[in-house]
Amino acid sequence: MASLQPVRGTHDILPDEARRARHVTDKGRKIAERYGYEEAATPIFEFSDVFTRTLGETSDIVTKEMYTFTDKGGDQITLRPEGTAGIARALISGGLSQKLPLKFFYAGPMFRYERPQKGRLRQFHQIGVELLGVAEPVGDVEVIALGAAILDELGVQGNTQLELNTLGNTESRMAYRDVLVEYFSDRSGELSEDSKLRLHRNPLRILDSKNESDRAIVSGAPEFDESLDAESHDFFAEVCAGLDSLEIAWHRNSRLVRGLDYYCHTAFEFTTDALGAQSALLAGGRYDGLVEKMGGPSTPGVGWASGIERLSMLIGEGPEQPRAIAIIPLGDAAEAVALKLTDELRRAGVAADLGFRGKMKQRMKRANNINARAAVILGNIELDQSAATIRDLDSGEQELVPLTTLRERLKQFR
Ligand code: HAM
Repeated sequence: MASLQPVRGTHDILPDEARRARHVTDKGRKIAERYGYEEAATPIFEFSDVFTRTLGETSDIVTKEMYTFTDKGGDQITLRPEGTAGIARALISGGLSQKLPLKFFYAGPMFRYERPQKGRLRQFHQIGVELLGVAEPVGDVEVIALGAAILDELGVQGNTQLELNTLGNTESRMAYRDVLVEYFSDRSGELSEDSKLRLHRNPLRILDSKNESDRAIVSGAPEFDESLDAESHDFFAEVCAGLDSLEIAWHRNSRLVRGLDYYCHTAFEFTTDALGAQSALLAGGRYDGLVEKMGGPSTPGVGWASGIERLSMLIGEGPEQPRAIAIIPLGDAAEAVALKLTDELRRAGVAADLGFRGKMKQRMKRANNINARAAVILGNIELDQSAATIRDLDSGEQELVPLTTLRERLKQFR
């Protein structure tokens, strides 16, 4: 039998974490709805082409990190490493181009064969938004503002900073690419092996290399701004002005290029120091060429995604779970009454826990373990009077209450 450990980089989401993750997702969805983004879900696996054609032939995701297999019908399938390509595919295959602009929110698992560490998993979960069909910079401002609002309402925005950059339009990027190839070629002997490979295929990616000797060379590299044409420059200026008008603080990181190749113009990351090496909390940008590259009509797009595990770590304990009422029957006759009473309470919307066995002491212990708010004790004395004793488990106070008014009386413990 195979090892009973979960596969490296995956883990079980047990109730405490599940509650935090649900809080993050629910908050995200609710705030996104306020901005007009509706939930959509694409399949967890797609034909591999959906990703290989769009994320970048030289990107780490495509070259090293995809979970790809041939299914029983002989098709090349990949577990989705991110959500944007699937949404773009859905736009094309669902014929949604007639309905633009479209605003989507999504949440779900993603898969990347990365080296696991704190905040970095092989199966992780994202919430994300995509705005399709809006070419204007105000679209970028809206999605960034939505990201900021979610971080704010989760109480983590104070821990983050917004890094912003422009990757310009295609012409500007081509011009900058030439400048970089020239600059890095002169120093190629000192570049890391990865960067040497990227030199001609995707020199922009060298800019965010983590390698020490690369970084020294990168620090002297020419700035993108010198290659930006007027259109790209104006677009970026409008995004910056929009963020300023909404008082969303940002700072320019001219080395931010992102690990996926579909971006143009705006690239951004809300980063944090609170998660060790994994600093990116919520990240995205504009991807005007993506849908077309996939074979669909030219469609502008902008969006972001955020790791639910990373958000959950930052929110700490998260919201408190509603506390249950423990029903504690003592004796056979009481058991029968308790079973019925518990069922009635649950149907009336009260979280009620019926200890399945044990004497008073063991049942009270369970009530404490589940952090029950109150106990309803049903013993012979109570049954004789068609009543129950309610014990407030925080104050220790108790009172005898007729069964007929019990439900009403329990309302104060919600
Ligand atoms: P990404 O930067 O690859 O972008 O991922 C977005 C976020 O997902 C990261 O900032 C991080 O919070 C989380 N994340 C990524 N990889 C892992 C991992 N291995 N373990 C845990 N969390 C992780 C995208 O995925 C783009 N699709 C975002 C986008 C949407 N751009 C435009 N629209």
